Amino acid sequence: MWLQFNVEFHASRESMKNSKSEDAGRLLRIGIPSKGRLSEVVAELLHDAGLSFRRVSRSLFARCRDVPVEIVFLRTDDIPILTAEGAIDLGITGADLVAEAGVDLIERLSLGVGSCRLALCVPDHAEIVSPKDLHGRRVATSFPKITRDWLAQHGVEVHLVELSGSVEIMVSLDVADAVVDLVETGSTLAANRLRVFEDIGCYETVLVQNKAVVDTNMADRIVRRLQGVVIARTWTLLEYNVPRSRLAEAENITPGFNSPTVSALEETSWCSVRAMVRRNETHEIMEKLELIGASAIIETDISNCRL
Ligand code: PRP
Repeated sequence: MWLQFNVEFHASRESMKNSKSEDAGRLLRIGIPSKGRLSEVVAELLHDAGLSFRRVSRSLFARCRDVPVEIVFLRTDDIPILTAEGAIDLGITGADLVAEAGVDLIERLSLGVGSCRLALCVPDHAEIVSPKDLHGRRVATSFPKITRDWLAQHGVEVHLVELSGSVEIMVSLDVADAVVDLVETGSTLAANRLRVFEDIGCYETVLVQNKAVVDTNMADRIVRRLQGVVIARTWTLLEYNVPRSRLAEAENITPGFNSPTVSALEETSWCSVRAMVRRNETHEIMEKLELIGASAIIETDISNCRL
């Protein structure tokens, strides 16, 4: 894989040298996951942010259509180190992998996808009431750095079994007494008769940046574009009419992203309010607004924004 990366990397640099428009400087490079569900989610996010590209078969590089940006397809867990080393300028990967890599990066943006938690999990019926009960026991994980740090904070010494996957079966294989693993829906734990003893961290997909990016303007443009899409996906726009006498209550219910817009109506005892609300709270907010006498409550999707 690295050989292929190097060959394509040098070919890519050669093609850059030969291109007049690209002689001016180095294309900004964004590293994204090469496969799996996250790679699809990230490609869609980039597309919505106006960073469209077409990946040719299993190529490791793709050039964005309308912006001087190059996409590099990488293993998700290599993205933090490759960003820190400057092989890519920006990287999209899990915050869990960034924390585990322990490298020096700038975390620019949380992307509102891929949320998961890392938890210390023990067998359903294990008599463990405190982290200290793990002293001298075996703990399997593919997050040795985060686990070591957490155990050290609790003053617990264990035998750490470092693995690159399938951690959840290590108790039944009698390799470990407990595991530190990612939990999303909890179904993997249930299937392996494990339970969460304690959460160690909560993470989601993030955009990270190398500390010495040359084209900081372009990096900032990418961040702003992605930020617009992420906010648009998380928030929605509510418009409604409300009696002026209830406006203060209405503003409490819908404080907006910054503040709500209030406009006068022909009927002077009423006003119109426009405010952004969190998408996942819309129904509850509409119900609360109805209870204070609001009417003509309309939700409008935001497809993109700059705030
Ligand atoms: C991850 C993680 C857990 C599982 C959690 O495994 O390591 O095993 O997903 O998801 P759930 O709570 O929704 O069941 P993944 O499938 O990525 O493979 P891995 O075990 O090789 O890490």
